[in-house]
Amino acid sequence: MTVHFIGAGPGAADLITLRGRDLIAACPVCLYAGSLVPEALLAHCPEGAKIINTAALSLDDIMAEIKTAHEQGQDVARLHSGDLSVWSAMGEQIRRLKAEDIPVSVTPGVPSFAAAAASLGTELTLPGLGQSVVLTRTPGRASSMPEGESLANFARTGTTLAIHLSIGNLDNVIADLTPHYGADCPVAVVYRASWPDEQIIRATLETLKDALDEKISRTALILVGPVLKGEGFDESCLYSKDYDRRYRPQSADSAWSSWSHGDD
Ligand SMILES: C[S@@+](CC[C@H](N)C(=O)[O-])C[C@H]1O[C@@H](n2cnc3c(N)ncnc32)[C@H](O)[C@@H]1O
Repeated sequence: MTVHFIGAGPGAADLITLRGRDLIAACPVCLYAGSLVPEALLAHCPEGAKIINTAALSLDDIMAEIKTAHEQGQDVARLHSGDLSVWSAMGEQIRRLKAEDIPVSVTPGVPSFAAAAASLGTELTLPGLGQSVVLTRTPGRASSMPEGESLANFARTGTTLAIHLSIGNLDNVIADLTPHYGADCPVAVVYRASWPDEQIIRATLETLKDALDEKISRTALILVGPVLKGEGFDESCLYSKDYDRRYRPQSADSAWSSWSHGDD
């Protein structure tokens, strides 16, 4: 018996890996985080599967369900939105499962920041504008931030920020970022990326507050940084005609020539 943690993707039911879909189909028990995981994914569960929405359950309740499945030798599909590597609460569940000697597997999913970038048609790293992406959040009712992980600290780098779980904290976000990025820095808010009711708001730090529909109060990503201009960046060397590289050595003397002839 194994608990399979599966990244359920950002919302669209077809943004799940084939492995994730097949695991759901193979598990007689499915626990899903109903606040964000699309119910359409449950159509992959086998007939007669026990399907439980964990949105209202405590960690103890969830563990009790898993232990019951364990006693019955039934594999569990555990679905969380997006990818499991960020803000999924997988860590605390795995810690408890390890203590109980219950085996786990982890299948990645499409994270919401990638879905939001896709909806914008934007690369989040552009030569000369931004070469890093910081996935972060602001403190919430239930979670403080470790010292040093303040928005102002990340903003000092000037790079691209993907700010999660913070649309309800917009005034502070704007106040913390404006001194570093400038009021005219481009911002995009993507609400429910890849869901049918997705909305995209493009603005600047100065205009964002007025541009945003007040109804957007959750499930939104705030992307900030010069890359959102989508212009004024350099071309990468990757496809440059005269750039000497492994797959396109420029001369017989190239460091890559022998490699490309099979000497590596
Ligand atoms: C608990 S976190 C889950 C993050 C998830 N594990 C991931 O990989 O993106 C929830 C936050 O992720 C962001 N989020 C999740 N799904 C989203 C979507 N479809 N569109 C925009 N933001 C989303 C929002 O900032 C939301 O407040």
